[in-house]
Amino acid sequence: MTVNVLVLGAGGRIARWAVDMLGREDVELTLLTREQTRLPDVPPGARVVEGGVRDPEVLGQALQGQDVVYANLAGDLDEQARAIVAAMGAASVRRLVFVTALGIYDEVPGAFGRWNTQTIGTGTLRTYRAAADTITTSGLDYTILRPAWLSDKDEIDYEVTTRGEPFRGTTVSRKSVAALAVDIIKDPSRWVGADVGVNKPGTEGDRPVFD
Ligand SMILES: NC(=O)c1ccc[n+]([C@@H]2O[C@H](COP(=O)([O-])OP(=O)(O)OC[C@H]3O[C@@H](n4cnc5c(N)ncnc54)[C@H](OP(=O)(O)O)[C@@H]3O)[C@@H](O)[C@H]2O)c1
Repeated sequence: MTVNVLVLGAGGRIARWAVDMLGREDVELTLLTREQTRLPDVPPGARVVEGGVRDPEVLGQALQGQDVVYANLAGDLDEQARAIVAAMGAASVRRLVFVTALGIYDEVPGAFGRWNTQTIGTGTLRTYRAAADTITTSGLDYTILRPAWLSDKDEIDYEVTTRGEPFRGTTVSRKSVAALAVDIIKDPSRWVGADVGVNKPGTEGDRPVFD
């Protein structure tokens, strides 16, 4: 069955890998970006919508007929999450895959955890946590991804930790996060209600380990 997928923040660096992979799958792609020139290659048949997720008209139109929303956003994630949840409810679209970051649940242990909180900053972590809270209490069929520090390596190598477990490792490639998102999008019945940390095995350390 063809899955209709809306990618929010399609020009983002994780999303670019995902869009490239999705272009080879049995999916109908809609790509939302604030600036079309920032999109790299648009797969044949993909629809591009220009605009921000906090514009209810743009988002509402882009959501029509979608099965899955994959959100790869940054910045005022709390307000963006509220806008997405409201628009998905109005459009009766239920499945959401949403990228946040490690540390939002104070789940990163030890010296690396302390460094992570200080470096990302409590303000940003609170904003990202608020976004996750909006989504987990929304009643939508969500999956939240909490990646480790990101690299642009052309590799897929990751493991996950569930919510409530201490975060493992310090880094992961954007391509790995994209691969996990694509796996979920291809079979949206999996990972419903999951909220997972994503890291490369063997990258434990007091600081990000980009081996
Ligand atoms: N850097 C790290 O090590 C790290 C680690 C863990 C998690 N994260 C988080 O993982 C997420 C994804 O990472 P990434 O590297 O793919 O990020 P990225 O390249 O910065 O992409 C984020 C995208 O969000 C879009 N965006 C922001 N506000 C928007 C709005 N109101 N409406 C529509 N689009 C909007 C941007 O669109 P435009 O192109 O239009 O600006 C951009 O394409 C980010 O939230 C990041 O903070 C980062």
